[in-house]
Amino acid sequence: MQRKFITVEGCEGVGKSTQLRLLKDYFEEHGIDAVFTREPGGTPVAERIRAILLDKKLQVSPEVEAALFACARMEHINNLILPSLKQGKVVVCDRYIDSSLAYQGVARNLGIDNVYEINAYARDNCMPELTIFIDMDPANSWRKKNGTVILNDRMEGESQEFHAACYRGYKEMAKREPERIISIVPDEEKYETHRAIIATLKDKGII
Ligand code: TYD
Repeated sequence: MQRKFITVEGCEGVGKSTQLRLLKDYFEEHGIDAVFTREPGGTPVAERIRAILLDKKLQVSPEVEAALFACARMEHINNLILPSLKQGKVVVCDRYIDSSLAYQGVARNLGIDNVYEINAYARDNCMPELTIFIDMDPANSWRKKNGTVILNDRMEGESQEFHAACYRGYKEMAKREPERIISIVPDEEKYETHRAIIATLKDKGII
C-alpha cells in the first residue's frame, strides 16, 4: 500500500490555515481516514519544544533553533507520524522539513545542506510523498492586503527581509525537488486554491 504522508508549506499569512481547514472538511466529507497535525508540535514533548521556539522573550541561536525543530520533528515522527502511516492513515502535516530548510537553512543562513544534515533522521526515515507549497511572496500576503499584521510569536516578529528569505528558500527547494514539491499559486478565491490542491492529491494518487 502506498504510504500517504503529505506536508503543506508556505510563508506567513498566505492562507495555509484556511486551506488546511478546507482539506480537513473535504477528507471528512469523503470518509478519508486522515490525521491532521502540525509542526513544531503534534506530541506533548514536541509541543513543549514549540513553546520554547515561539517564545518572544527567549533568544535562541540559529544552530540551536535548527536542532530544536529537528528534535521536535523526531518526536513527532516516532510517536505520531509513522504509527499513523502504519495504520494506513493519510497524514497531513502543517509545515515540516521544508520549513526548516527555508527558515533555518536560508533565512537564518545555516545553509540548506547543513539543515538537511541536522534533519538526517527525517530525511532518512520519513520524507513526505507530496509537499504542497502555497507559492505566495509574503510581501503580497492576504494578511498584508487586509491591512492587519499581527506579530504573534518569535518567528512572525522577524523582519520583512527574513520572510523574503524564507520565500526564496522555498522557491529553491521547489526547484531542487520538483517531483515531491508541487507549487500552487493561491487564488484570492479560496475554493479555487482548494480545488487545485485536491486535483494535485488526485494526480499523485494520494486520494
Ligand atoms: P506557527 O504559528 O505554527 O506558524 P504558521 O501559522 O505560520 O504555520 O509557527 C511556526 C513558526 O515556526 C513559523 O514562523 C515557521 C517556523 N518554523 C521554522 O522556522 N522551522 C521549522 O522547521 C518549522 C516547522 C517552523
